[in-house]
Amino acid sequence: TDPQRIRNFCIIAHIDHGKSTLADRMLQLTGVVEQRQMRAQYLDRMDIERERGITIKSQAVRMPWEVSAGAQQGEGFVLNMIDTPGHVDFTYEVSRSLAACEGAVLLVDAAQGIEAQTLANLYLALDNDLTVIPVLNKIDLPAAQPERYAEELAHLIGCEPEDCFRVSGKTGEGVAELLDSIVAQFPPPEGNADAPARAMIFDSVYDTYRGVVTYVRVVDGQLSPRERIKMMSTGAVHELLEIGVISPEPVKSQGLGVGEVGYLITGVKDVRQSKVGDTVTGSIKGAEEALPGYAEAKPMVYSGLYPIDGSDYPDLREALDKLKLNDASLDYEPETSAALGFGFRCGFLGLLHLEIIRERLEREFGLELISTAPNVVYDVVLDDGTDTVVTNPSEFPDGKVAKVSEPMVKATILTPNDFVGAVMELCQSRRGSMQGMDYLSPERVELRYHLPLAEIIFDFFDQLKSKTKGYASLDYETIGNQDADLVKVDILLQGEKVDAFSAIVHKEQAYAYGVRLTETLRKLIPRQQFEVPIQAAIGSRIIARENIRAIRKDVLAKCYGGDISRKRKLLEKQKEGKKRMKMVGRVEVPQEAFIAALTSD
Ligand code: GTP
Repeated sequence: TDPQRIRNFCIIAHIDHGKSTLADRMLQLTGVVEQRQMRAQYLDRMDIERERGITIKSQAVRMPWEVSAGAQQGEGFVLNMIDTPGHVDFTYEVSRSLAACEGAVLLVDAAQGIEAQTLANLYLALDNDLTVIPVLNKIDLPAAQPERYAEELAHLIGCEPEDCFRVSGKTGEGVAELLDSIVAQFPPPEGNADAPARAMIFDSVYDTYRGVVTYVRVVDGQLSPRERIKMMSTGAVHELLEIGVISPEPVKSQGLGVGEVGYLITGVKDVRQSKVGDTVTGSIKGAEEALPGYAEAKPMVYSGLYPIDGSDYPDLREALDKLKLNDASLDYEPETSAALGFGFRCGFLGLLHLEIIRERLEREFGLELISTAPNVVYDVVLDDGTDTVVTNPSEFPDGKVAKVSEPMVKATILTPNDFVGAVMELCQSRRGSMQGMDYLSPERVELRYHLPLAEIIFDFFDQLKSKTKGYASLDYETIGNQDADLVKVDILLQGEKVDAFSAIVHKEQAYAYGVRLTETLRKLIPRQQFEVPIQAAIGSRIIARENIRAIRKDVLAKCYGGDISRKRKLLEKQKEGKKRMKMVGRVEVPQEAFIAALTSD
């Protein structure tokens, strides 16, 4: 296809502002998906995805579009709609998807207005030099206030309120005009057709039947079938088994030229061999220089994952191996905890990533897991100058610590005016420092803070929502490390350290953490035959203490008389209860106590 006839774009929006619905309408209007199929697909989406492992709502869909009105009426174009992952944890992948486009449709719910991810996505789009078309969606809603939010949006982008499109993804109103405008306003792709091939990988998905499907945008030259290709970050060469476009099913093609978007299948079995951000070139006479922007995704949040039933350990390993095929950013290595047994220390991009993986392990692989409280990565320098990276609090060095630093984030919070005080209070209590504040409109305020990532992953979002009646929205990105006054708090049961409860906390919060955990554990651990002290300690200094008083456990006391079978039953029951106990030194701790203590905060 002539690059002049191609438009590559994405839709960016805050969650639930209607991106998928608008995309569906575009597929239908361009005739890529028929109306009858549309409904079926919509409903079957999940099952089909699961069965075939390939997304119907593809990472990139090619749609033919004939301009419906105006000077170019009747002219044919190819529109490539590129999907972007929706959450802060995956910012790097979002930015790669955006880099594959020339334009972005910025979608805003006309009943909600601008939210934190609207801003974050807009800034990413502008960073990638994209042309932005502002669009107000859901204008069919009775609560829609397109006039009011057009002002807001125009103010933000620096255009006139009349420049904002008004559409309804639900009814289809305004969508044809929007498609025309995509052709008119977004620039066509530029590239050198005669140069060696260079294509950027913006997504990479593992498919059970076909191996890894890699989505690329060709920048220069041409990729043809039956060619061997090279991944420029590693130099690895792969056979090209299939090349094509998605419309909306995969369709093989004779090659991809400048500006075109499509997929490659090389037979690799693991997305780590075909990484987002990497450049694909030909194996012979390949390009010398990779496209800009390749960055390795780095785990930011760590947690220990342990099977509740120790015999599930091999299954957990197998499940993680499988998930890793489709997730280059998932990181794990075996770890042994005195309290929890054999498990894995896993690294994630963020809290949502952690939750998704955990849920998939439980749902898709039927595993029951305990996860330790998530923690960030600390950089610890000892007095003798040695530098250690700590991903597990229980491994925090005991020696003379000179300096500890922790990852920081730049957070953007949007909130209605009424809740500014509450939001500031929350950020303050989480060691935040305010960087700025702007009124987007008389009612809506943007607050910018620097906060420790460790504070964000610790129920910050829930607190923010509850303090603002659900109205505030949050977005953040990491900005490097900062020194902080951090200490390790250990929890001891009868003098024995319980590694799973060790935490790295700010000095000022250490006492509160110690008190909370010792209290929680006292309530959760049943009485034993002897007294059990529960202590919280920083090094050898005890900062909190609770006691579990001793009892004499006599299950047979209830059985007067000589009913032997009943006695036996009771004894067996007690034995079974024991199986679910973990021994910490001489203390029996029920599995539930660990689960409850690790999830209560
Ligand atoms: P995520 O994929 O979860 O980020 O959401 P999204 O932005 O793709 O939103 P989605 O298309 O799933 O729509 C969110 C909700 O808004 C759904 O309940 C839709 O039915 C509804 N919705 C989307 N567009 C419109 C619209 O134009 N009018 C009305 N009334 N509802 C809409």
